[in-house]
Amino acid sequence: MAYALITGASGGIGWAMARELASRKHDILLLARSGEILQKNTEELKQKFGVQADYLALDLSVPDVALKVLDWLKQKNYSIDILINNAGYALWGNLNDLGRDDLNRMMQLNMLTMSDMCKVMLPLLQNNQHGYILNVSSASAYQAVPTISTYAATKAFVLLFSRGLTSEMKGTNVSVSCICPGPTSTGFIDRANMGPLKDKAEKFSVQPEVVARIGINGMYAGRAEIIPGALNWLGAKLAEILPKVVSESIGANLYKVKK
Ligand SMILES: NC(=O)c1ccc[n+]([C@@H]2O[C@H](COP(=O)([O-])OP(=O)(O)OC[C@H]3O[C@@H](n4cnc5c(N)ncnc54)[C@H](OP(=O)(O)O)[C@@H]3O)[C@@H](O)[C@H]2O)c1
Repeated sequence: MAYALITGASGGIGWAMARELASRKHDILLLARSGEILQKNTEELKQKFGVQADYLALDLSVPDVALKVLDWLKQKNYSIDILINNAGYALWGNLNDLGRDDLNRMMQLNMLTMSDMCKVMLPLLQNNQHGYILNVSSASAYQAVPTISTYAATKAFVLLFSRGLTSEMKGTNVSVSCICPGPTSTGFIDRANMGPLKDKAEKFSVQPEVVARIGINGMYAGRAEIIPGALNWLGAKLAEILPKVVSESIGANLYKVKK
């Protein structure tokens, strides 16, 4: 049976998606950096859901890493019919205060590795009766967001790239979906150094399992764009109709620390 290949599956939304698919009896391949956690997660999937599972621990924020993943799949003789590009992170702060290397790695992971994984894995997905791509964007993709400017722009890239690919693949045996979650209770806030916003974020946050279920359902339904939650949907629609300066100042206020 073909596997679902999931990036960023050591925790958070990616791990919830792995469990969601395994509960539907799909075999799973997990990718992230934390080898020990991936090994534990792999065992849990096998024991709890009785599926096949394996993992590859590697840093996805480096150029050409998609080719390394492809080599691994070939060497192990694994076929895939689902690709979930979920690994990603944000960096909170003004551009002037953020590290250049960290910013460049984030852009590499969120955009270049995501799009290259689609490019490199597409022929494998096409080998099946039906193949699926699910890319994880964000509610921040719909407008510029001061203090997470670079992150929001990477997620706008994910959304626009995915929508373009959805059209390109129409009428073929591969469907492409993009999910744009709002605040979700994961390691995201800590990784982004958004500690001071934690309390505020928790008020609006949903559990990753909820996002995972909506995402997987939307992927199987072949939906181009999936916005989980009425509030996030409203935010996306408002960003379309409000003047940009208004939506940007709403964004700036959301990410500002109240003194
Ligand atoms: N949580 C939210 O509020 C929220 C909202 C909108 C969108 N999103 C998006 O959802 C996706 C998942 O994030 P999350 O919320 O689940 O955050 P998370 O709990 O921090 O999980 C991120 C995952 O990505 C992996 N990862 C990070 N850097 C990596 C690298 N260089 N190479 C390989 N794997 C890497 C992490 O594993 P390792 O550390 O083991 O490598 C982890 O498995 C991201 O794309 C994020 O932008 C999240």
